[in-house]
Amino acid sequence: MKPGQRKKVLVTGGAGFLGSHLCERLLAAGDYVLCVDNFYTGSKANIARFLGNPHFELLRHDVVSPLFVEVDEIYNLACPASPIHYQFDPVQTTKSSVIGAINMLDLAKRTDARIFQASTSEVYGDPDIHPQGEDYWGRVNPVGIRSCYDEGKRCAETLFFDYRRQYNLKIKVARIFNTYGPRMLPNDGRVVSNFVVQALKGDPITIYGSGNQSRSFCYVDDLINAAVKFMESGDELTGPVNLGNPAEISILDLAQRIIELTGSKSPLVFKPLPSDDPTQRCPDIDLARRELGWEPQTTLEQGLVRTIAYFDELMGRARVSGL
Ligand SMILES: NC(=O)c1ccc[n+]([C@@H]2O[C@H](COP(=O)([O-])OP(=O)(O)OC[C@H]3O[C@@H](n4cnc5c(N)ncnc54)[C@H](O)[C@@H]3O)[C@@H](O)[C@H]2O)c1
Repeated sequence: MKPGQRKKVLVTGGAGFLGSHLCERLLAAGDYVLCVDNFYTGSKANIARFLGNPHFELLRHDVVSPLFVEVDEIYNLACPASPIHYQFDPVQTTKSSVIGAINMLDLAKRTDARIFQASTSEVYGDPDIHPQGEDYWGRVNPVGIRSCYDEGKRCAETLFFDYRRQYNLKIKVARIFNTYGPRMLPNDGRVVSNFVVQALKGDPITIYGSGNQSRSFCYVDDLINAAVKFMESGDELTGPVNLGNPAEISILDLAQRIIELTGSKSPLVFKPLPSDDPTQRCPDIDLARRELGWEPQTTLEQGLVRTIAYFDELMGRARVSGL
């Protein structure tokens, strides 16, 4: 890249929740962004605000097919991320993770681009150690209903490290823990969006199991900061690196917090826990703190207030247009 030239950055899954925030951040930093998405769970609404920007380009494309473009950096985010969506067409989910990874790694190899992989805490499965550090190998069911996602992401990690060992690629593998914020889909079954939408509608809030299972939630702006810092770090830092917020909260406490912040009168209803649902999920982020000088800055309350405002506006618009 010549001095003063804009970096050309490819974001696969760029019309999704995390992808659209990443595109926004990269455009603000002065990069040229090529957003690639098959719109399986992403939407034009997420990226509509960038369409007039001369440094933004949108390509409808499925990463299961090879892609031939010239880029300096690749963020590979293309994969449905919520159980409802990744279990709808599990074979396509595995293909998006595994064949998608091969295609993007081949592109990185051809163009000598750095490549970031959006891996997941789900590679740890239902963990028997807590919190999970990067050296923990996980406890994953290879034949369950979540395996298309968990094993697909595990295989993608394997591919990233084999491309590194075999072809010396500049890889950045991030294990992302639960992240939430504006532009999540209202109906994708993820716990924060579920609870917020139910609370705003005054519908019963559905708790699976006893509600004592814990999760930790990272606000989207913090996660995007970490991803960009990781991409900018030295070539020797390949990961895997856990990215998430280590502040733990039980599902029951989360529901109560959202009820308070929305002023909702929603009752709680309890339903059986789906199979392979982990009981605890909390990142050990010492590596990210040490190597990236990063840690989350947004409190759960601040993040929930922004997320609630987003869904409130979205649902208001839907009411006005009679949807
Ligand atoms: N949000 C989280 O809490 C979280 C946690 C761990 C990992 N991740 C990972 O981060 C990435 C983004 O997640 P998200 O929360 O933004 O989900 P999302 O569903 O909003 O975004 C995924 C995007 O990828 C697109 N996509 C899916 N399959 C594709 C394909 N084959 N070709 C091209 N595009 C495709 C979708 O249309 C969507 O725009 C995913 O890879 C996910 O596994 C997210």
